[in-house]
Amino acid sequence: MRKTILSAFIALACAATAMAADNVKATVHADKAGAKINREIYGQFSEHLGTCIYGGLWVGEGSQIPNINGYRKDVFEALKVLKVPVLRWPGGCFADDYHWMDGIGPKNQRPSLRNNNWGGTIEDNSFGTHEFLNLCEMLGCEPYISGNVGSGTVKEMAQWVEYMTSDGDTPMARLRRQNGREKAWHVKYFGIGNEAWGCGGNMTPEYYSDEFRKFNTYLRDYTGNKLYRIGSGASDYDYKWTEVLMDRIGNRMQGVSLHYYTCTGWGGPKGSATKFDNDQYYWALGKCLEIEEVIKKHKAIMDKKDPEGRVGLLVDEWGTWWDEEPGTISGHLYQQNALRDAFVAALSLNVFHKYTERVKMANIAQVVNVLQSMILTDQEGTGHMVLTPTYHVFEMYTPFQEATYLPLDLESEIIQVSKAYFKEKEGARDAGYRPCPMLSASAAKTTDGSIVLAVTNVSLDKAQTIDFALEGFAAKTFSGRILTSENVADFNDFQHPNVVAPAEFKDAKLKKDVLTVKIPAKSIVVLNIK
Ligand code: AHR
Repeated sequence: MRKTILSAFIALACAATAMAADNVKATVHADKAGAKINREIYGQFSEHLGTCIYGGLWVGEGSQIPNINGYRKDVFEALKVLKVPVLRWPGGCFADDYHWMDGIGPKNQRPSLRNNNWGGTIEDNSFGTHEFLNLCEMLGCEPYISGNVGSGTVKEMAQWVEYMTSDGDTPMARLRRQNGREKAWHVKYFGIGNEAWGCGGNMTPEYYSDEFRKFNTYLRDYTGNKLYRIGSGASDYDYKWTEVLMDRIGNRMQGVSLHYYTCTGWGGPKGSATKFDNDQYYWALGKCLEIEEVIKKHKAIMDKKDPEGRVGLLVDEWGTWWDEEPGTISGHLYQQNALRDAFVAALSLNVFHKYTERVKMANIAQVVNVLQSMILTDQEGTGHMVLTPTYHVFEMYTPFQEATYLPLDLESEIIQVSKAYFKEKEGARDAGYRPCPMLSASAAKTTDGSIVLAVTNVSLDKAQTIDFALEGFAAKTFSGRILTSENVADFNDFQHPNVVAPAEFKDAKLKKDVLTVKIPAKSIVVLNIK
């Protein structure tokens, strides 16, 4: 039976001890394997927003920056390491303003337009369908296309699917061949709109459901390709949206999305990525962890209406959303990425693992230069690139992809923000009691039979020793890596690219089937146990 988390409250003001007194007891139930962790949980999201596409993924064939057919070489190689399973494109809000025919054919004939969602930047359409789908093939990942419901037509969307996936002698397949691509691409994931409740058309769930039915009717499965149709789902706590969609189109969609962002203030400043106090730190982590409650509630609705678990819940936008970095272009959502962001990544991934039976995909927002990105490329054109702390979490967590989830019991103290901060938040849109457990962990049995165990200690000042009983597993050896830094606000930049980087971790002992791990404050440890 899963133990509940201890509710030993620590007032921050008096949480000054450097080391918790007793070892915490934990159990990894290797004998009670759960579901396979969908590798799509490690999905990425790329939008025509700021420098995510232009300057991030794509620099063009003629660029001084080393590239492979126009794709930034260093970024491409770094993404290869992450084994990206799925990449979402072209938005986001941009998707419902995007007309795919603008992005095909000779580049010098493609129209330049204003990106109305993101800062009015000129979009020259040099990165379009071919550039995106070829990139997915090179990365070996599934493409996830977001279709335009908000300002597009049924015909336009139907023709896009035909253009990408028809291998027959059909008009759109002929056009594709004329543009240099003989074979149809494989496209599995197709989103019918994005944020239909907001930038995707400001619809009601009832109206959107009817739109979904209409658009969906004309999206054909061409020979050899079967679309996984995704409904534009809820934002955060909008359970009614999920309820209506499940009632009206639950039998027509294979997945429904959910968007959930972490920041320290909605509707005003969202908080700095690198300058925050202890209260803001713990509160943000509590807010991030609240995603578990949110998933549980959406899942409960889905479980009732779809007990067979046919429809997947896809968290296709998640991550931190901080204030834009001072001096950067407004509307480009360029933010730094600190060790705190790495915690948000690790804690969220742990939650997704736990609900993998329903959570079939998650796409962190976004892959390069936008929001909680994996990679930052310089904005000055010097050709530098930096891997963020979040990148390192995704890299350290790669063994979880397709591994089998193992239930785990772990007790943790709960850290709470100061009363003064709680009071300050009162009445704000994002007010709420957000407990933050000091420890969290996730375990899985990998495809080679070993156990991968990730442990996070978010405490600012307390190390903790944990005894992990490995039930049903005869452990012989282990190895590990740690991600930590002196300060939770530490980050990597072009001058100092390795401030937050993984290092070897040795502070563990194996005795019989108990692995005792001493996990320092402010750290993420990932162990491989054989
Ligand atoms: O990821 C940035 C934006 O956040 C997306 O375009 C939109 O879908 C969401 O509101």
